[in-house]
Amino acid sequence: MNQQREKFSSRLGFILISAGCAIGLGNVWKFPYITGQFGGAAFVLIYILFLILLGLPILVAELSVGRASQKSVAMSMDVLQPKGTKWHYFKYFAMAGNYILMMFYTTVAGWMIYYFFKMASGGFVGLDKDAISSIFGSMLSNPVLMTGYMIIVVLVSFGICSRGLQKGVEKITKVMMVLLLLLMVVLATRSIFLEGGEEGLRFYLTPNFSALKEFGVLEVLFAALGQAFFTLSIGMGAIAIFGSYIDRSRSLTGEAVYITILDTMVALMAGLIIFPACFAYGINPDAGPSLIFITLPNVFNAMPGGRLWGSLFFLFMCFAAFSTVIAVFENIISFGTDLTNASRKKVIAFNLVAIILLSIPCVLGFNVLSGVQLLGEGSTILDFEDFIVSNNILPLGSVVYVLFCTWKMGWGWDNFMAEANSGVGLKFPKAIRFYVQWILPVIVLFVFVMGYKSLFFS
Ligand code: PFF
Repeated sequence: MNQQREKFSSRLGFILISAGCAIGLGNVWKFPYITGQFGGAAFVLIYILFLILLGLPILVAELSVGRASQKSVAMSMDVLQPKGTKWHYFKYFAMAGNYILMMFYTTVAGWMIYYFFKMASGGFVGLDKDAISSIFGSMLSNPVLMTGYMIIVVLVSFGICSRGLQKGVEKITKVMMVLLLLLMVVLATRSIFLEGGEEGLRFYLTPNFSALKEFGVLEVLFAALGQAFFTLSIGMGAIAIFGSYIDRSRSLTGEAVYITILDTMVALMAGLIIFPACFAYGINPDAGPSLIFITLPNVFNAMPGGRLWGSLFFLFMCFAAFSTVIAVFENIISFGTDLTNASRKKVIAFNLVAIILLSIPCVLGFNVLSGVQLLGEGSTILDFEDFIVSNNILPLGSVVYVLFCTWKMGWGWDNFMAEANSGVGLKFPKAIRFYVQWILPVIVLFVFVMGYKSLFFS
């Protein structure tokens, strides 16, 4: 075991940074638009069920593997697997997932910065609904602009990582997360009372299961599964890395519950901010990835002090995005330091260039390469990359983690329980062993296979 490994300075640091990894564009950008696309409250209910029944145990499994191995996913299974087994091949799959995630995440994070500057400089003042929508369109059609913002995201995030775990990642993320949580509460309160917003609340909070049929139950389940795993960051070692930075004073189930609650609160609040606003301003909630960018500037325009609140909102959206990018970069950096003897600096320099280059297809997918529609008409490269991660790597990777932690030919149940339960706090219930070992993976695989079938073969 590597005793030199830098640790977090406090438990709060660990929780906020893991929550910072979990809370991101998935909560504030993707959750509202997917909920909007799949008809609202019924989708939300399934999503929450998946979070509790599937996400939470998987999160504990991942944190346990991280803490026991004291390594990133690039080496964790090599350390823990029984001799002669092949679990460690999982690393290639998981590492690829982290890179593919960043290939589109950096672009959307760049949109947030662009909107922050636009809002702060008064760029939306006096514009009507159509003019606001056209700003989003003209941003997408400008590859130079988007590349510029994407590069800023990569440079700033690696810049923070280069200052080290405690002085960079922990210090900055802690502050950003606390501010984000506070602002979300203020804005959600404001949006709930918007005139004409009640219909939005109904759409968001009163389940209408007949809507599920309209979209296809299996497709909705598949989307909810992907979103639940995406939001918690489970399935490819992005959370496991933070398990490797803590000691054994706390049991991991309790920590996982905190992370899940924080993450879910932010997603639910994002919905509370956005849906009343959609209905109040006559914007269709199924607009897709553009949803928050075409809805929210209208809200802020109609609000006293809207320019200030709007700027703060997009600033904090940048925080949410950055806290995740920084977390995943930290993971990517530790792949390099776990697998080679290279210094942290060298690994950062290499990845900085690599991630900028890898992010370019997503940017170009909205303009120069808009003819590339791998997921069907009108889809983009972003949709494709997101689909690979959210609907493939995360569910399948999560199953690998669960099997590794419960099967004898893996790390095994006893080792997993000993690790998860060491320290004070909530313990992982012994009684759910059969469920975790057999039923949970079967549910995930079933939804995965059926989702594929209904998406591509029906
Ligand atoms: N959980 C992040 C979000 O909600 O934006 C996205 C994410 C990070 C997904 C890390 C997966 C991952 F491994």
